[in-house]
Amino acid sequence: MCGIVAYVGPRDAQPILLDALGRLEYRGYDSAGLAILNGKGVEVRKKSGRIEELAKACRSKPVNGKSGISHTRWATHGAPTDTNAHPHLDASGKLALVHNGVIENYLELKGQLTKSGHKFLSDTDTEILAHLLGDTFEASKEKGEKKLIDAVRKALTQVQGTLGIAVIHSDLPGLVVGARRGSPLVIGVGNGENFLASDSQALAPYTNRVVVLQDQEVVALHADRFDVASPLGQKADIRVEEIEGGAAASDKGAHPHFMLKEIFEQAETVRSAFRGRLDPDEATAKLGGLNLSTEELREVERIFVLGCGTALHAGMVGKYLIETLAKIPVDTQHASEFRYGDSPVHEKTLFFAVSQSGETADTLGALREAKRRGFRCLGICNNVSSTIARESDGGVYMHAGPEIGVAATKSFTSQVVIFTLLSLLLGRLHSLSAAHGREILNALDRLPEHIHSLLKQSEKIRAIAHKYAQAHSMLFLGRLANFPIALEGALKMKEVTYVHAEGYPSAELKHGVIALIDKETPTVLIATHDGVYDKNLGSLQEIKARGGPVLAVAHEGDTKIAGMADAVFSVPRTHELIQPILNVIPLQLFSYHTAVALGRDVDKPRNLAKSVTVE
Ligand code: G6P
Repeated sequence: MCGIVAYVGPRDAQPILLDALGRLEYRGYDSAGLAILNGKGVEVRKKSGRIEELAKACRSKPVNGKSGISHTRWATHGAPTDTNAHPHLDASGKLALVHNGVIENYLELKGQLTKSGHKFLSDTDTEILAHLLGDTFEASKEKGEKKLIDAVRKALTQVQGTLGIAVIHSDLPGLVVGARRGSPLVIGVGNGENFLASDSQALAPYTNRVVVLQDQEVVALHADRFDVASPLGQKADIRVEEIEGGAAASDKGAHPHFMLKEIFEQAETVRSAFRGRLDPDEATAKLGGLNLSTEELREVERIFVLGCGTALHAGMVGKYLIETLAKIPVDTQHASEFRYGDSPVHEKTLFFAVSQSGETADTLGALREAKRRGFRCLGICNNVSSTIARESDGGVYMHAGPEIGVAATKSFTSQVVIFTLLSLLLGRLHSLSAAHGREILNALDRLPEHIHSLLKQSEKIRAIAHKYAQAHSMLFLGRLANFPIALEGALKMKEVTYVHAEGYPSAELKHGVIALIDKETPTVLIATHDGVYDKNLGSLQEIKARGGPVLAVAHEGDTKIAGMADAVFSVPRTHELIQPILNVIPLQLFSYHTAVALGRDVDKPRNLAKSVTVE
């Protein structure tokens, strides 16, 4: 949520900031701005709208200078206007600040600053921090760069909430000070130049060497060096890491949108999720990153899965898999509910925090809460340098490559593959037979091939999407492991098309939802062959009897369903427990094509951000 980039070096800062900011747009895209030290002072450009609007303003009136800060915003305090866009200046106009996070006590600070004569131009919490920093800077007895570092450290002690910040001051050219509390920040280490960004991917064309700033650390960034200090001001230990996946990984390639590219990548990304983790001899899975011995795994009596949005839906499929194969009871909960609730948790519970970005504030808060209560908490993340990956006691990486489209697609199927591996591993430590384990392994192994064949239907799904794109509302129904697939289908539809959509267990239809059925309201019914196939057929009949159109996800060659439904999304048949991974893909394509038919901004839907780093 909100992206930050800063640069110090020998090159012109403006094009670098704009370019790198473009790769952070998934974090928020309602307004953007930059501030550069131009030799005389701080020069600011900021615009509401996409980064392209800022780029236009900068092209018509360029800012020259070798160090600067920039920001792409997802509004929390104040509407997305030019004035509310970051950077914000202090009262002297010499200090500029960009901020990712929320200042929780900003009203109180605003009151104090107003009393001492400060006037504010924007409605943001960030401007309050800029003024506070300015005052602290003026009051500091330190000299040179230490003065700004000291100001940042002192101002932060007065601020409650989360933040990642970057600050420049016109008295200190060639210096950017950054600090982190909650919101992520990485230092990009270049040759004779250095960077700061919310995410290492933003810096991919410039450097693959990064230092992940730890919570409470402050960095002073120069062209030829950077100094990281711990909260108490001591020099911190730093570890330079080389990151994988260069600029090409975040390129759309031949696809018109990242979302479509990422849907199409799934044959490969599911393979990456299980590559090297299958053990055919023992008919089990190998997950070394769990950091748990066989004995410790055997002692797990309950599992608790935490996540938000799509990640939670993957956890709900995981519940079904683990309970079926390993017979271990699993609770799933919205991370935001868990962190502030006080439901009792069985003492032999193993927690999982699921998050593509590894930065979702609610999931991170829930992980910390679980750990605080003394539970072991593992992460299932895609972003290896993320906070959740670092703070968890172990876990499993998805290896899905960068996911740029705001609506999660490939990360979902990778997460479900990981839950399949986990349930296999746990199952084989209990009563799951080798024969059954091998069936699961074989089905996983064939998954990429099945996904390839399924994706060939994209054009057919496009035609169905065009036919139903004008619907005001849609229902998504599925049972058992396909219930979370229905939820995920509905979430995708809402996110990228803004069409109202609800996901329900099919049998709940008659408990209220059926009142919504009419000929204008399509129902997507997941009805692949499984133990509840006949029950799903019953639901289909009930909807048809009331004139509702039914779009069914059914197995290839299912003539029964083809004869009853208004449209069919055909999927290859696989093991019943692996089937949900295939069933979700036509729903992703259906949402995508509906969004395109409606002219939506598929990769950057309104009001959303991919990485929600505020509560
Ligand atoms: C946001 C995104 C969703 C995503 C959720 C969890 O709400 O819009 O698409 O599922 O965050 O993200 P995470 O990175 O934790 O998986």
